[in-house]
Amino acid sequence: MSSLDRRRFLGTSLGGLAAGLSLGHFSFDSAVFGEEAVSNTDRTNPAAAGFAPDTLFLSMQKDPTSSIAIQWVGPESTADETIQYATLENPVWQIGKTITRPYTDTDLKVHRCELSGLKAGTEYRFSIGKSVKSYRFRTMPAKATDTIQFVSGGDCGIDQHAINTNILAAKQEPYFALIAGDLAYDNGKSPDTFTKFLKNYSQNMIDVEGRLIPMLTCIGNHEVNGGYKTKRSDSPQYLGLFDHFYAEKTYGVVDIGDYLSVVLLDTDHIEPIGGEQTDWLRRTLSDRQERPHLIAVNHVPAYPSYRPSEGVNGKTGTGEEQRRHWSPLFERYNVDVVLEHHDHTFKRSHPLVNGMKDKNGVLYLGDGSWGKLRIPKTPEDRPYLAVVSAAYHMTVHRLEGEQRFHMAIEESGKVADVCMTTNKRPARRG
Ligand SMILES: [Fe+2]
Ligand SMILES: [Fe+2]
Repeated sequence: MSSLDRRRFLGTSLGGLAAGLSLGHFSFDSAVFGEEAVSNTDRTNPAAAGFAPDTLFLSMQKDPTSSIAIQWVGPESTADETIQYATLENPVWQIGKTITRPYTDTDLKVHRCELSGLKAGTEYRFSIGKSVKSYRFRTMPAKATDTIQFVSGGDCGIDQHAINTNILAAKQEPYFALIAGDLAYDNGKSPDTFTKFLKNYSQNMIDVEGRLIPMLTCIGNHEVNGGYKTKRSDSPQYLGLFDHFYAEKTYGVVDIGDYLSVVLLDTDHIEPIGGEQTDWLRRTLSDRQERPHLIAVNHVPAYPSYRPSEGVNGKTGTGEEQRRHWSPLFERYNVDVVLEHHDHTFKRSHPLVNGMKDKNGVLYLGDGSWGKLRIPKTPEDRPYLAVVSAAYHMTVHRLEGEQRFHMAIEESGKVADVCMTTNKRPARRG
């Protein structure tokens, strides 16, 4: 990164951060329009004028330039739960149908409304049923003519560190938050834990303009009961909320406008790494060589910063299977960056080809310390690592033309690392 680019990125991002800090804790109530504080009864009763579910959040289902899903967890109800929505500019209200689905092992339901046919790059507001409360969100632009910013991380949990990182993330005004596994640590069997994660997200993940920040996720070992090689039924809470994206398989791709593709993978929690998923990955990357930004995301790291990368006594090393099946594809198809987590540190690898430093190689960023922490191994121990730190963090990604800036920000607001990646796909020229 040139010193000018670096200064500009740091200046604008930290300026936003400082502005956000001066606002203090951004409250959910201040994100909605013209309403008084409401009672807890109103929050849970869909027939009440002040109904405001405390788990309300947005998730991506397809291209977020034209669609979004509104979801919350709450009691089953016969009250009106339709979503009324309109652009901020033109209050011609449209109606979206809300469906309910099981929230397994509880008396609660997942309530979901999928909006499609939205205008790209547009500010919207919506309300639920007869409630006077309204909320804001924005669709992503169809073209990346301006800077596009999103945040990423993994391994959240529900304690104060996770909340602090939520607040830090929201202050960056991202278009979306990409959380790549180990969201709540419900382990497929603690719905209350998952609900608490959603409550935190709902309360914290609102930007300074009052817009709800959509969530995009991939699966991790703590989304399932058993960690690895499980079945879809072992992930009732996670798949209860995200089966609109992962309808059949727990891997998928979201293509955003004509500029960004995010490939989301399952590191053997439900779908095996080799075989069908790897074949799909090969096709998916091959088909997206024209995209200016191509990012892969998985939970267990190919290049771990804490766990052993090589197996001992017949045990498989962490990331061995990804390095065998996926890293050659990331290299062959020039993936811009791989986001991976699970080890609870901050890490940036060197650009790597076959595990060796190579200026034309693939960068791996991680390692999942949104709300969980370990002490990383050093670059001296693991030569594939360029930078590590033991700090709660999330990363801001800024897309500018055919390059990307990646800035890791620690819970304290300190910048742990800034780096840049550029498009190396030869097909993308002219
Ligand atoms: Fe974790
Ligand atoms: Fe994990």
